[in-house]
Amino acid sequence: NHYAILMAGGIGSRFWPVSTSKYPKQFQDILGVGSTLIQTTFHRLVKLMPVENIIILTHKEYKDVVKEQLPRVKEEQIVLEPKMRNTAPSILLGALKIKKKNKDALILVAPSDHWIQGDLEFQENIEEAFQIVAENDKLITLGIEPTFPNTGYGYIKYNEEEGNGAKPVLKFTEKPTFKKAETFLKEGNYAWNAGIFIWSAEFILKSFKEHQPETFRLFEAGNDVYNTNEEQKFLDENYHKAQNVSIDYAIMEKSDSVFVIPAKFKWNDLGTWKSLEDELPQDEYNNTIVNGRLLPFESTGNIIKTQNNKAVVLEGLNDYVVVENDAVLLIFPKEKIQDIKEIREKAIEKF
Ligand code: GDD
Ligand code: MG
Repeated sequence: NHYAILMAGGIGSRFWPVSTSKYPKQFQDILGVGSTLIQTTFHRLVKLMPVENIIILTHKEYKDVVKEQLPRVKEEQIVLEPKMRNTAPSILLGALKIKKKNKDALILVAPSDHWIQGDLEFQENIEEAFQIVAENDKLITLGIEPTFPNTGYGYIKYNEEEGNGAKPVLKFTEKPTFKKAETFLKEGNYAWNAGIFIWSAEFILKSFKEHQPETFRLFEAGNDVYNTNEEQKFLDENYHKAQNVSIDYAIMEKSDSVFVIPAKFKWNDLGTWKSLEDELPQDEYNNTIVNGRLLPFESTGNIIKTQNNKAVVLEGLNDYVVVENDAVLLIFPKEKIQDIKEIREKAIEKF
């Protein structure tokens, strides 16, 4: 009775221009390891459950990419969202579909665009969590030890003393301000939310009913058609009506049944180009080369990704991101890389 919802509908705008709305980062080999992020994630999931128990939720536009990259998945396992509505509606829909198949289902919700090292440790964490939620009404999230005041994550304040295995969460704060994040780090008993969740179908649906009653009613109304030929029509007519909100704001911040299990594996959500420096080796001048051959002259601390393994000649350029796709070459100061989202929007408008 183990199932998974693989979340693959984001657009990864901070990895522009390599990640584009046509080909977001989950469908790319961002680290140059020979398989895309969604393929690596899928590979981890099939060790935990039968292939047919995994459903992939994504935007309509990515149907063909998913089919091409995950050939073992049948078409009925791919759920196509007509409109981007963030993660809460997708997870609710996924849970309803799974519950209809198996009312005792336990669900792992997994992002498709993270980097995880330590597949065995990951499995141990998930299996422990499955055991806990099989017997308890708990919403479990995996926690990562925070290292700096990153404002792009959820912060989990937990009770270190209580609970063996899953620790009770006292407060969940999604994407705090920098100041808040700094105080959290100083206080100590905080973890980053890895965005990997484990719960029973029954209890997450109950939580939606309580904290997101409107969206719950909207999707519950489709129960008769889920997993049938009429499902897509229902989604095309109704999906856009769902509130645009992430699971973190919709449920995790609100529920008092949240528990955290410290992650035993190495984790990186590959949030920005800069995060690649942690996962890839640097050359003797501290440059990180994902793809390409760098011929550096007095150039240090750069991050390089070319197409077709181009030679890149740099003279006197330090701490820049130099990346390209078919249409765009981006040269951007590494320290400002958080701003890329806005710059991308402005740039796209002008093209
Ligand atoms: N199907 C679907 N539909 N998937 C989506 C959608 C959508 O509308 N929007 C995002 N996703 C997918 C993304 O592709 C990604 O795999 C996952 O859901 C999480 O979405 P992000 O947009 O990447 O969330 P985030 O990084 O801002 O924040 C979340 O992850 C952090 C850790 O990486 C939160 O859960 C934070 O609390 C957490 O710390
Ligand atoms: Mg993310």
